[in-house]
Amino acid sequence: MAGNKTFTMLKPDAVENGYTGKILDMIIDAGFKIKAMKLTHLNEEQAKKFYEVHKDRPFYMELVEYMTSGPIVAAILEKENAVEDFRKLIGATDPAEAEEGTIRKYFAASKAKNAVHGSDSDENAEIECKFHFSDNEIVG
Ligand code: CMP
Repeated sequence: MAGNKTFTMLKPDAVENGYTGKILDMIIDAGFKIKAMKLTHLNEEQAKKFYEVHKDRPFYMELVEYMTSGPIVAAILEKENAVEDFRKLIGATDPAEAEEGTIRKYFAASKAKNAVHGSDSDENAEIECKFHFSDNEIVG
């Protein structure tokens, strides 16, 4: 059964610290299938657009600066109940509040440098997948 899709980014701190393989292992072990994946480096325009929803928040420019500070790994993941299950797997935005066994508990440094992104709804997952991938980069 195909399931639903969600979108993730392994953020610059996670990639820089060499956590890519360990985080992908946790994602695969939790039952997610990788449908698309790329190592890329966001420019300022891309980061501003991706996080446009946060443009009035005090941390917006810090977030844009951080997300453009180094390479990221972007991926589309598929699983039953993908959005909700992935958010459970990554844990709370603030790693101090993240539960044991979550990706952010193990790998996030702070609320800003929180290792990994996960879509917050099916609707946003679709927008975010399309933002980063064209149809021919996604496996069937
Ligand atoms: P994410 O859930 O991927 O998308 C929004 C991001 O904004 C979030 O991860 C954090 O990286 C960042 N963020 C949220 N709250 C704060 C904050 N208070 N200070 C700095 N960055 C934040």
